[in-house]
Amino acid sequence: MALEPEIKIQYRELLSKVEERKQELEQFIKFLETETSWLTSPASTKYHLSVEHGLIIHSVNVATLMIELKNLLIPEIPDESCVIVGLFHDVGKVGMPHAPRYIKKDSSYVYNEEQVEISVAARSLYLVSKFIPLTDEEAQAILYHDGQYILENRVIAHKERPLTLLVTFADTWEAAKEDGRLKLSKKIYFKKD
Ligand SMILES: [Fe+2]
Ligand SMILES: [Fe+2]
Repeated sequence: MALEPEIKIQYRELLSKVEERKQELEQFIKFLETETSWLTSPASTKYHLSVEHGLIIHSVNVATLMIELKNLLIPEIPDESCVIVGLFHDVGKVGMPHAPRYIKKDSSYVYNEEQVEISVAARSLYLVSKFIPLTDEEAQAILYHDGQYILENRVIAHKERPLTLLVTFADTWEAAKEDGRLKLSKKIYFKKD
């Protein structure tokens, strides 16, 4: 199944917002698109977007919502930071070129037991920072993007920078939409007894 043209356009538009670190980004994109499962990987094995291209669709959704939210709440943050954090917060899900994190089995995906285990967020930070120099805020946002859903993230409770709060919310919101939990219904919001 081919990646929807609409997602491809949004992806290219997001990439074009990176100006300061354009060259580094191009190298990273070249690596991701030619050596890893970046464009085909699912976003998960059984939760949200556990389908081909799920990861890129989710990443585009998160980066797009981050830009919308930051324009509303804190426009001082550059688009570039939202693109790098939003697009690559889950890039660790590709695993490594020689060991993808998810493997296609029959019509679904399974976790690759052969890989060296590193958490998704840590691998995301590891992969991005091999190619792109990050600000401290961007590094915090990528590594702790799951927010307080993850016990180990307790160390940054109440110490989150704005970019971290933005990615955590955008990620949670988009994942809830993608897996069908977020169904806007008038019945819920305008309940009459
Ligand atoms: Fe994640
Ligand atoms: Fe995510």
